[in-house]
This record gives sequence, C-alpha cells and structure tokens, in this order.
Amino acid sequence: MKIGFVGLGKLGYPCALAMAAKAHDVLGYDVNPGNMNHAPRPYNEACEDGVTPMSTMLKSSTLRFGSLAAVVEHSELLFVAVQTPHDPRYEGVTRLPAERVDFDYSFLVDAIKQISAVTKAPKKVIIISTVLPGTIRNHVLPHASELLRICYNPYFIAMGTTIRDFLHPEFILLGVHDPDTARAARAFYATICDAPVYCTGIENAELIKVAYNTYIGMKIVFANTLMEICHKMPNTDVDAVTSGLKLATRRLISTAYMEGGMGDGGGCHPRDNIALSWLARQIGLSYDWFDSVMVARERQTEWLADLMCSYDLPKGLIGYAFKAGTNICVGSPALLLAHILEQRGHRVFRYDPVVEQAEQDLSQMPPHVFLVGTNHPQFARLNLPNGSVVIDPWRFVSANQGVHLVRVGAAA
Ligand SMILES: NC(=O)c1ccc[n+]([C@@H]2O[C@H](COP(=O)([O-])OP(=O)(O)OC[C@H]3O[C@@H](n4cnc5c(N)ncnc54)[C@H](O)[C@@H]3O)[C@@H](O)[C@H]2O)c1
Repeated sequence: MKIGFVGLGKLGYPCALAMAAKAHDVLGYDVNPGNMNHAPRPYNEACEDGVTPMSTMLKSSTLRFGSLAAVVEHSELLFVAVQTPHDPRYEGVTRLPAERVDFDYSFLVDAIKQISAVTKAPKKVIIISTVLPGTIRNHVLPHASELLRICYNPYFIAMGTTIRDFLHPEFILLGVHDPDTARAARAFYATICDAPVYCTGIENAELIKVAYNTYIGMKIVFANTLMEICHKMPNTDVDAVTSGLKLATRRLISTAYMEGGMGDGGGCHPRDNIALSWLARQIGLSYDWFDSVMVARERQTEWLADLMCSYDLPKGLIGYAFKAGTNICVGSPALLLAHILEQRGHRVFRYDPVVEQAEQDLSQMPPHVFLVGTNHPQFARLNLPNGSVVIDPWRFVSANQGVHLVRVGAAA
C-alpha cells in the first residue's frame, strides 16, 4: 500500500520503518529536516520484533522521505504522528503543581492545516497523536479541509519498544469518523498483524487511549502501596504478596505492572493522568481519581526519599532512566526522587550507564546511601564503596561485603 507518514519523531519514525519493512511503499515527512534521514536517533529502541533486529530493518529499509505535498500526493493512507506535548511541569519529574492543564494541540492543528493546504483530492488521514476526549471533533476537525477523511487511531506503544509493540499490538483501536478510512485502516493492519480491531466513536477511542495509560499508573501505585505496607509490617514480603495476587487472572486481569518498585514513568503515563485530572476538574467529576494516583506516586517517591534520608550519608542514584534498558529519562520517577532530595538541600550523585553510555567504577568514591532508581539488568551485581547503603526498591541487586543492602518491601 502507498503510505504517507507525517511526524517522524520517537513514535513516527520507528513505525514508518516497520511499515516499510512490511513491504509498504512509505514516504515520510517531518517539519524538522534533521528527522528525514536514517541517522541514529538519540534514544534507544529495544528493537527486537521477535525476528528482525532494528539494525537489519534499517539496512534494508525502503522508507523514503519527501516534501509534505509529495507525501500527501503519494499516499493512499496518510498517518499523522505529531507531538501533543504537555507543559514540562507536568512530566512527573518534579512535584505536582496545584493547577492542571490540557495537552498542547497546536502542533497537531498546524499539521492538519498544512496537510489541508496541499490536499487536492479526497485523502484518507489517520491521526495517531494522543489527545483527550473531545479534542479531534472540537479542535482538529474544524481546521481540516473537507477533502480529509479522518479516522483516529491511537497507539498503545511503550517508549523504547516501539517497533515490537507496533508489530505485535494487543489490539488496534479505530475511532471512526469516516467509515471508508476506517475500512482502509483495517485492511492495512491485516498486513501488519492479526490483532483484533476495535471500532468505536472518536471520543470513545480518545478516552480508551488515555484510560489505558492511566490504568497502568494506577496498578503501579497499588503495587507500591503493597510494597510500603510490607516494608513497614513484620513478616510480610511484597513479592510473595504480588505473586499470590498474580494468580488471580480471572478477576484481577493481567499480571503486568503488578510489581513493587519505583513509580510509573515515561512520556505518556504520568502526563496522561495529570491531563485527565485537568479534565476531571473541567467536567466536575465527583472524585478526581487521577489526581489521587499522581499524589500517591509523588508521596511514595517522597517516602523513598525519607528512607534515604534516614542514613546520614551523601545521597546517590544508581539508574535514572524511566525504565530498564532504555536511555529515555522523560517522566522518570528516579528524577522526581532526585528533585525531592534536592529540594531538601541534598546534592545527589547520579549514575546511569545506559543514559550516559559509559561505565563508571563506583567503588572508589566515598560511601553513599544509594537508591537503585532503574532496574537495568547490569545493576544485579554492584561493586560499591565500603560503608555504603543500597536501597533497592526492585529487590534484585546484590553488593559486595561492607555494603548494607535494604530490599524495600522484602521480608527481613
Ligand atoms: N513516543 C511514543 O512511544 C508514543 C506512544 C504512543 C503515543 N504517542 C503519541 O504520539 C504523538 C507523537 O509522539 P512522539 O513521541 O513521536 O513525539 P515527538 O516529539 O518525538 O515527534 C513528533 C514529530 O512530529 C514532527 N512535527 C511536528 N509538527 C509537524 C508538522 N506540522 N509536520 C510534520 N512533522 C511535524 C516533529 O518535528 C517531531 O519530529 C504524541 O501525541 C504522543 O503522545 C507516542
């Protein structure tokens, strides 16, 4: 199929590559010319789709680039994956401000206006960008040319595993505005995977997208509540408790995210919770559940800061990427922890070999109280200065003699 792709950022570029790898004729456009090439990107992509490493996909990629007009002209289906950013204060790496705001839709609106300006014939347009319910109808469609036949198709993709998640989705979600475009999208995805396609109204799809992300944040807050209980109650162990709960697959859904550890992170989940908290206030929701999830995330991080401060040692973070195996730090709960410690007047040593792409020998520095902020597998065995303390919210590290290890939530 002839595919056009507008917005070749963290989501768009890997997805366009994957579409090309599935033998589609993909032409991409980005307003930033620096993104219209196959140069290495500044973030890691855990790039296995189960079969094809990203490097192989890149070497043989047929993904090409062109002007917006050429991309529009070329495409039978035109995907739009431009950013809908949040104010940096709502990323989840600093304390929650008292007020709440919606995402910034100006890039999406501009992209739709620009596409409209160069569209000469009816065009099937698929919008991927994350938005709150009501946005496409109220803020985007009024700027779209009548020639644009729109379908909303948000992606349930995790940053860092974009290609794998694109090729192996749990389900495909279509918010149908133009039924012909939805039909074409369904035919397209049949060439990518055999996941079920769920068609619904645009607003439902908008809500499903952010609800999916915030549900994950809620599960993590719940698991971390259990972790804190177990840390405070004798003879309890968080992993034993969550392992029991994970057997309840009939009534508690899936076992994913049911682990005590650091708070939820990344570029999507915290910000979606905060945006839904804004929506809760806008529509006068009887109880702002999303706010509670974010406040709990912040308090749980604050409690980990308390644990570190209970040791009279300099403070250090081992790992600050938002999750294991990636160098992405957006929305990192470890950075929120550093922020809280710095607000309390501490200097915080930080080390993350995946982010910094360099190993350091920590054993020669003065003793610290370290907290393992990211469960990168290489931290399983740590060599640290004698007299140090390691607080491990993941309960997976071991350390040399002379280091006191605190396994958060584990039975003593
Ligand atoms: N990154 C992810 O894994 C992920 C997952 C699910 C959903 N999303 C959603 O997808 C959208 C894109 O996210 P992202 O992380 O790729 O953002 P990004 O900022 O990395 O990429 C957006 C790209 O769009 C380009 N762009 C902006 N305006 C444009 C225009 N008018 N014409 C052409 N290109 C334009 C930018 O230059 C940029 O390269 C967001 O709404 C995000 O919430 C992202």
